[in-house]
Amino acid sequence: MNSADITVTDVTLRYGGKQPVLALDRLSLDVKPNEFAVIVGPSGCGKSSLLYLIAGLEERSGGSITVGGSEVHGPGADRGMVFQSYTLFPWLTVAENVAYGPKRRGAADPAVVARYLEEVGLAAFAKHYPAQLSGGMKQRVAIARALANDPAVLLMDEPFGALDSQTRHAMQRLLLRVWDHTKKTVLFVTHDIEEAILLADRVFVMSGRPGQIRRVLTVDFPRPRHEDLVLDPAFIAMKREIMGLLKQDEE
Ligand SMILES: Nc1ncnc2c1ncn2[C@@H]1O[C@H](COP(=O)(O)OP(=O)(O)OP(=O)(O)O)[C@@H](O)[C@H]1O
Ligand SMILES: [Mg+2]
Repeated sequence: MNSADITVTDVTLRYGGKQPVLALDRLSLDVKPNEFAVIVGPSGCGKSSLLYLIAGLEERSGGSITVGGSEVHGPGADRGMVFQSYTLFPWLTVAENVAYGPKRRGAADPAVVARYLEEVGLAAFAKHYPAQLSGGMKQRVAIARALANDPAVLLMDEPFGALDSQTRHAMQRLLLRVWDHTKKTVLFVTHDIEEAILLADRVFVMSGRPGQIRRVLTVDFPRPRHEDLVLDPAFIAMKREIMGLLKQDEE
């Protein structure tokens, strides 16, 4: 599978319970096939909730979500998810973790597993267990595991948030390489504005809760983008603009 578009139209999410929360209020966004889209927004504005809805792990209260033209009604192999916290099965080896999804669908192919381990630079660690890996390596396994299902879109919720800055930069380069090779559509959530601008074709800035899209910025710095780009006045201007949009919620 290559890539697919994501279309979110007027999506509302209400969490029930004793104190109901309106997490998202008629939120709309569209991501094009093979686009790298990044979401930033204040803490608690509903970024993770939005990814869960697109992943089909949470049920929306209203509105429509389509991926590749098909309405989302639950999880599916067309959508791969990578979370901030490490979500590998500790009792399975690296290769077994990557093979888990395809195996469940009766499509386990050792060559495919090997290819994705190669893609994330972990071919030599196939037989290791997660506990024997660093945080960055675990996230590389998580990316390989998501890719092994050959999803059309990758949904990534602060995947590098727990990593030190050096590892994080290496992971950003790796992800951009994977994206370039596989032509997936990526929807990526981050708290880090520099990370957002370095990675994105477009940055979607959310408002505070209930979350809506406050502004969409097109990032047209040429690729590949070097980390020094953060010193470029045009980069700084964009960073300032996003910071200003996020600050509106503190006032
Ligand atoms: N399962 C749940 N039940 C009830 N309320 C929830 C649930 N999950 C999230 N919420 C609430 O919905 C709102 C949005 O949460 P969400 O985790 O999507 O925000 P976020 O933007 O990802 O935040 P952060 O930046 O801290 O990761 C928050 O107010 C949160 O408390
Ligand atoms: Mg979150």
